[in-house]
This record gives sequence, C-alpha cells and structure tokens, in this order.
Amino acid sequence: MSDDSRPSPSGARTAVVIPAAGRGVRLGPGAPKALRALNGTPMLIHAVRAMAASRAVSLVVVVAPPDGAAEVKALLDTHALPGDNPSGSWGKTDFLVVPGGDSRQESVKYGLDALPPGIDIVLVHDAARPLVPVDTVDAVIEAVRDGAPAVVPALPLADTVKEVEPTAVPGAPEPVVATPVRARLRAVQTPQGFDRDTLVRAHETVTDDVTDDASMVEQLGLQVVVVPGHEEAFKVTRPLDLVLAEAVLARRRLNDGF
Ligand code: CTP
Ligand code: MG
Repeated sequence: MSDDSRPSPSGARTAVVIPAAGRGVRLGPGAPKALRALNGTPMLIHAVRAMAASRAVSLVVVVAPPDGAAEVKALLDTHALPGDNPSGSWGKTDFLVVPGGDSRQESVKYGLDALPPGIDIVLVHDAARPLVPVDTVDAVIEAVRDGAPAVVPALPLADTVKEVEPTAVPGAPEPVVATPVRARLRAVQTPQGFDRDTLVRAHETVTDDVTDDASMVEQLGLQVVVVPGHEEAFKVTRPLDLVLAEAVLARRRLNDGF
C-alpha cells in the first residue's frame, strides 16, 4: 500500500502512547526499567515491536525518561522495528519520542499532547508489559472501533482479594474491611484503548491520582468495557518478573523462532 496513513477499513487511524518514563524502583537499582534488557534487547524495544506488529497501528509515541529522550531515540534507530519494513506484511509505522513527567499520568498526558491531527483511536501501553501478544492489541482496537469509548484487557484473578484498613506501621497486622466476590473482579492490563477525544477530555478533567487511564474515563461517567487479556501481558514489576519474561521469550524462540 502506498498510502502511509494506513486508514483502517473503518477509516479510523490508531496511535499508541507508551509511557516508559518510570524508574523501576521495585525492580531494584539500575537503569530506568524500560531500558533494561530482556534476553539482550531493551524491554521498551520489545514493547514497541508488540504495538507496531498490529497492522492497525500507524504511530507509536514513546514517552521517555525525562533525561533519556536522546538515548531512547538512538535505541529506536538501532533496533529493527516493524516500521522499517514498509512493503512487508507489517506495513508502515511512524515513531515519535517525547520526555516524560513525574507520574505515569503526567507522562501519558505528554504523549497525548504529541499526537498529530487525524488520529481517532489511542492506545496507552506500559513499556513494562513488553510481551503482550498482537491478538490482544487487535482485540482492544476492534472493540474501540465497534463504538466503546474505553476498552481494557483484563483477566480473572487467581488470588482472593481482601480490602484492609492500611496501618502506618509496616508489617503490623491490618484489619480486614471486606472481601469482594472474586468472580466479579478482573486484573487490568494494557494496552487500554480509547476514542481519542474521550481520553484527552479525561486527562483535562480528572486530576485525582489514578493507576490506570480507563478509571479517568469512568470518572467522566462513561461506560468502560473489559475484553479478555493475556497472561503474557503481565507487568514486569519485581525481579522475579524478569525471570518469567525471559522464560516466555525463550519459549517463543523454541516454538516459532521469534
Ligand atoms: N511511567 C512513566 N512515567 C512515570 C512513572 C511511570 O511513564 N513518571 C511508566 C513506566 O515506565 C511503566 C508504566 O508507567 O512503563 C507502568 O508503571 P510501573 O510499572 O509502576 O513502572 P515504574 O513506575 O517505572 O516502576 P516503580 O513503580 O517500581 O518505580
Ligand atoms: Mg510506578
């Protein structure tokens, strides 16, 4: 296809904002989390490839650590990305890098600010979820195209969850307040998908601290829907998650030469 804008059959154009500006405190000392290697390749590059692998994605905006934008640009230039292959089955994807902020919310906002006109659908995807399969990405995009203003991939929980009254003293016993019915709970992943105007309005309106983008849309009073997530879309948070991520990559390499 010669048209770089790659309109979808529905005419909607899709961009992904990848917040990658976090330090990764829970992973321990070292480089910013998104720049740490998994099987020799930075986590961020895995995440960018996972997004650009979707034929529907025409632009990826990486939100880099505030002092790391040049380094991230260099990484994107030196690693093979689906966008390098305009005549291949992946099609053309453009890339932008912007510096991030102090909170994830602020970083996502800076990514949204960088979106050009003509983008109708926006996905927000954590760099810390480098292994999400493309089928999950496509399922989220499809649900937004079908009319949902906000879509989140999620999985049922394995653990029962207790709500507690947190204590100020670390390790002290905490009184249990409630036990939500597990069958009604979902653990939410990314990419989360949005009608662009809805997400921009949510970021302009909601100022509370939130831990995901969809909850800002909920605060606007709009219906958010869940689609099936994937176990390989887990978030790399603690050191053991690195072990799991590298095991998943090794299994993929065995199975399909990934
Ligand atoms: N993030 C960001 N800007 C911030 C904080 C977080 O772009 N100021 C990004 C992270 O880079 C990550 C995603 O948001 O891709 C999810 O955040 P999390 O897993 O909490 O990563 P970190 O904040 O880096 O980790 P930690 O909380 O352990 O420091
Ligand atoms: Mg964090």
